Amino acid sequence: MMKAVRLHTYGGREVLQFEDAPRPRPKEDEILIRVLAAGVNPVDAKIRQGMFARMMGTKLPLIPGLDVSGLVEEAGAKVTRFKKGDPVYACLSALRQGAYAEFAVAKVPELDKSIAVLPLLTRSEDEANALLASGIRDEVTSALAKIKALKLAPDPGSMATDNAGDATEEAASRPDVAYVVEGDIRQDPGDRVCVSLKLMDVRNNRPLWSESFDRTAVDLPALAKEVAAEAVAVIRTTVAELEAPESEASAKPKGLSFEGAAVMPVAAATAWQALVEIANLSPGQTVLIHGGSGGVGVFAIQIAKARGAKVIATASAANQEFMRDLGADRVIDYNATRFEEVVKEVDVVLDSVAGETLKRSYGVVKKGGIIVSLLEPPDKAELDARGIRGTAFMVSPSAALLSELTKLVEAKKLKPVISKTFPLADVAKAHEAIETGHTRGKIVLRVADEPKD
Ligand SMILES: NC(=O)c1ccc[n+]([C@@H]2O[C@H](COP(=O)([O-])OP(=O)(O)OC[C@H]3O[C@@H](n4cnc5c(N)ncnc54)[C@H](OP(=O)(O)O)[C@@H]3O)[C@@H](O)[C@H]2O)c1
Repeated sequence: MMKAVRLHTYGGREVLQFEDAPRPRPKEDEILIRVLAAGVNPVDAKIRQGMFARMMGTKLPLIPGLDVSGLVEEAGAKVTRFKKGDPVYACLSALRQGAYAEFAVAKVPELDKSIAVLPLLTRSEDEANALLASGIRDEVTSALAKIKALKLAPDPGSMATDNAGDATEEAASRPDVAYVVEGDIRQDPGDRVCVSLKLMDVRNNRPLWSESFDRTAVDLPALAKEVAAEAVAVIRTTVAELEAPESEASAKPKGLSFEGAAVMPVAAATAWQALVEIANLSPGQTVLIHGGSGGVGVFAIQIAKARGAKVIATASAANQEFMRDLGADRVIDYNATRFEEVVKEVDVVLDSVAGETLKRSYGVVKKGGIIVSLLEPPDKAELDARGIRGTAFMVSPSAALLSELTKLVEAKKLKPVISKTFPLADVAKAHEAIETGHTRGKIVLRVADEPKD
């Protein structure tokens, strides 16, 4: 058994029951996390009220909570990426949830990382080039065979054809091959030789890496070693970083507390997906972030600055200095100033407020710009009349996205801000705080003490 917060019925804060519940068991592609902290999101309160019950198909009793961090307690039989004791953070599926508890399970299915090294094409009858081609292939094959995360496909000798495209196509049709290394060798005038190598994700027909090595053809065995070493180093990191789309957990960013990690998944992923994946915010562009001091806003200001954008952010008077400290170039107190009177021609609006705020936002976007709303679909007629774009979206965090956020945290470009911490048993107080709609940064539930080291 374990301590957990459960809902037996949907409703007000009184339905949050702190009680004993069965400890979950991880399936073969899941990890059991010993939870140290759980992040609190506005959506948790909406789920508690039953707002998404039908849409998400959630079943009672339900342990709520999407954001979690902790230590791996047990890894399912098929899990190779994590082992007992690993520090992780995760965004649990909205369907199952389960973060408000001493233990939670997260899906971490393994991506099939089988890789085939195709024979390199040589574009001449030259024997030296043929030797170089097989030398490179042998070097790459034996180095990749030593990488635990990869599974070398059985010798794809039959894939040798005169046409690189045909060979890749044939490899792609084999169910046991997910990635292919292919390449060719060209003899250039004089004593130059050019080796081209490419890494393909054949299941999605997506190039992942390519490089050309233009060298003097003097010591061919040494050249084979040099090319192979460089290729293998890139392949190792490129493929290792690929995660199954439905994977929920990622290694906790180094140097970040468990509480800091627990508040990141939903809010930071929302800011990332809105600004980077949807709006494609670019250096030099201007973004208006409504609610810049809240859970999403704090991450949005930092992500926008990390992308080299100019940031205008709105919040109440008490949060003006706070948003400046996070990097906002210009701050607006929404009670004192109507933003549409002082802001014009922005490239992107990130709106987490909706209603009147959304209505007043159409006029501040430049032609071709975009409004990304977290709550309410923008009005198509308003968008069309102004030649701007707009969309509402629902965040879909994944382990792959958490890995992107980890890079930003470890590069000191992104940090969480926690304004209130509650013990798990005081979950009702945490919900009372998040339901004000005026949280600074994030609220976290402390489930267990962080390890000392
Ligand atoms: N679509 C999605 O996938 C998605 C994902 C995450 C969140 N959301 C939703 O987005 C909303 C915001 O989430 P959050 O986690 O950032 O909430 P939060 O932590 O409660 O923050 C709310 C923020 O809004 C500010 N605010 C309140 N009224 C405002 C106004 N009239 N103008 C400008 N700012 C105002 C607050 O600043 P002051 O305290 O200074 O007033 C605060 O900074 C919630 O409704 C949440 O459910 C949707």
